[in-house]
Amino acid sequence: MIKNADRIYYGGDYNPDQWDDAAIDVDMKLFKEAGINLVTLPVFSWAKLEPEEGVYDFTWLDKLMDKFLENDIKVCLATPTTAQPAWLSRKYPEVLPVDKQGRKRTHGMRVFFCYNSPKYRERAAAIAEQMAKRYKDYPNLVLWHVANEYGTHCYCPTCEKKFRQWLKNRYGTIENLNEKWMTAFWGRTVYDFDEIMLPTELNDDYRFNPTLNLDYMRFVTDSTIECFENEASILRKYTPNVTIQTNISGHIENLNQFKMTSHMDIVAWDHYPRPQDDKSMRAFKLDLMRGLKGGQSFMMQEQSPNQQNWQPVSKLKRPGEVRMISYEAMAHGSDTCLYFQLRQSVAGQEMYHGALITHGGHGNTRVFREGARLGHELEKIGDTFLGATTRAEVGLIFDWDSWWALEYGAVNCLPQKDFNYIKHMVRYYRPLFEGNIPVDIVGIGGDFSKYKVLYAPYLYMMQGDLSEKLHAFVEQGGTLVTTTLSGMVDENSKAVFGDYPGLLRDLTGIWVEEIDPLEPSEGNRMVMEPGVLPESAYGCEYQCDVIHTEGAEVLAAYGEDFYKGTPCLTEHTYGKGKAYYIATDPDEAFLKDFAARVCGEAGIRPLYPAAENVELTKRSNDRNTVVFALNHNHEATWADFGTDRFVDLLTDREVTGRTEIPAYDVMILKQK
Ligand code: GLA
Ligand code: ZN
Repeated sequence: MIKNADRIYYGGDYNPDQWDDAAIDVDMKLFKEAGINLVTLPVFSWAKLEPEEGVYDFTWLDKLMDKFLENDIKVCLATPTTAQPAWLSRKYPEVLPVDKQGRKRTHGMRVFFCYNSPKYRERAAAIAEQMAKRYKDYPNLVLWHVANEYGTHCYCPTCEKKFRQWLKNRYGTIENLNEKWMTAFWGRTVYDFDEIMLPTELNDDYRFNPTLNLDYMRFVTDSTIECFENEASILRKYTPNVTIQTNISGHIENLNQFKMTSHMDIVAWDHYPRPQDDKSMRAFKLDLMRGLKGGQSFMMQEQSPNQQNWQPVSKLKRPGEVRMISYEAMAHGSDTCLYFQLRQSVAGQEMYHGALITHGGHGNTRVFREGARLGHELEKIGDTFLGATTRAEVGLIFDWDSWWALEYGAVNCLPQKDFNYIKHMVRYYRPLFEGNIPVDIVGIGGDFSKYKVLYAPYLYMMQGDLSEKLHAFVEQGGTLVTTTLSGMVDENSKAVFGDYPGLLRDLTGIWVEEIDPLEPSEGNRMVMEPGVLPESAYGCEYQCDVIHTEGAEVLAAYGEDFYKGTPCLTEHTYGKGKAYYIATDPDEAFLKDFAARVCGEAGIRPLYPAAENVELTKRSNDRNTVVFALNHNHEATWADFGTDRFVDLLTDREVTGRTEIPAYDVMILKQK
């Protein structure tokens, strides 16, 4: 939770180095009108604040900060280190990154520096220290925001040298590395760490060496953490009571966010669902953010108050959409509602990106009116659900190493070349989400014992004590659901000796003999044993494991092909619990009915009965329990709260029993 927060922070990024004082005064008035109580600045102003190496000029920022203080608006202060000044790139070209194609890049862009460059780190630390010293006693400083959206991958000589050192630390000797990487394949033996090259297009290893890729991705995360800590450790020293974070980019694949966020005081998410995303994808990512720090509330650090500018067609958000998506973020664990950005940029790539205040510079717009309505509602809600957590009985394991191994390393060896981890994970998440069954997204280091049911689809890599933890979970009575592409490799992306799913073989009571990838036009059928699920058969696609049982019970068998009649869904009792193995990619109808079976068996029920397309979540802190009811339908519909009694925080209405929720509207219900 954000230290010392006394209400939901509502506001966002503000980049006033693009306009004059008169416009800033207009903005202040409009901020008050809209209930804005937090601004993030000066994310991109390094060039302005340090025009020459070591020469700082904070006059502009001081003046602004005074204005915010006068207007009682809190500040999320960003170290401006995401966009280094031109003098820095010019004087010390080593701060510029080298890309995957091996090209040394020239100055420009943002997040366009080598995160391992000692010079970059030296200058970034210096300005961070200047800011910390200067503003440490500023009364409205409530958050630090380090740089912006880390995630560049650099392939420069500094990184290469550091990577070799990183490997030395991990493997100790070159012999050990050769063995762990199994470099005997294609005669890739190395005799010295200096012979290891970064996986670039120059050598094509980024396509053909799963293990090297995986270690490179791990190395980038570790290096980025160092880069974050380079500044965060200074801020911490000067302002131990101010929450420190860095905002997570939508390209979450670039860094292991479980590791990254373990260094942050709170998770901060830049929430940019694509217009074509369904709401399960949106909710999945929000639940993932809540999961990163073991279920703690997080910040929605950015979202667009209207259109995003990078879509091929940058559609407007429809009336009410920002409000709906904002409450949805809070429903899944956010304690803030922040925009990028408060006033629209006047030039550059983002000049047509949505903003609360448009180029017109007044409040007479649909977006501003909607924003002001939301601002006043949030004022009313105050601190009711700050820090509140969600209780879930279903966990879903999400693992960056498996993701990377599958999509960024193994992609050229997998039977299916276009495997998309997130999309596949969301298929398992969707029926639970749509059924209003709370789900925690949990990392392999998480505490599994909290759950009755653990979904572990595509858990490709077994490492550390993961297998022991899964065994203990089932042994003690849990239900594990795992699938094709699980347990196939060790921590170095090396195939298990013995059959898949390797260490999960005794737990699932099956072994996999072959994997048959299907063409997009092909499918198979899952023919169910009587009484297992409501239908007698379901469709399946994408890939089919040909498996054999060794202790598991067969619940369904393939209906087609040479493996017709062999098992595709099994259940195995182990200790007090059981493990299901789903050998293929079942259709949505199966996933829905299967989720109902598994949850039903474990006594897990939806939060409340509700009409279709009504999203329900529940958060509790030590003061309140709040139920969020979001009606995504464009007509009024219902949810049934039984004998539970609430007061709707937005309307002050008492709510109990079967309740009508107006069309495309939300209810924020405090339990009595
Ligand atoms: C990102 C960045 C912002 C801005 C927004 C635009 O997430 O952090 O600086 O570019 O996107 O939506
Ligand atoms: Zn580099």
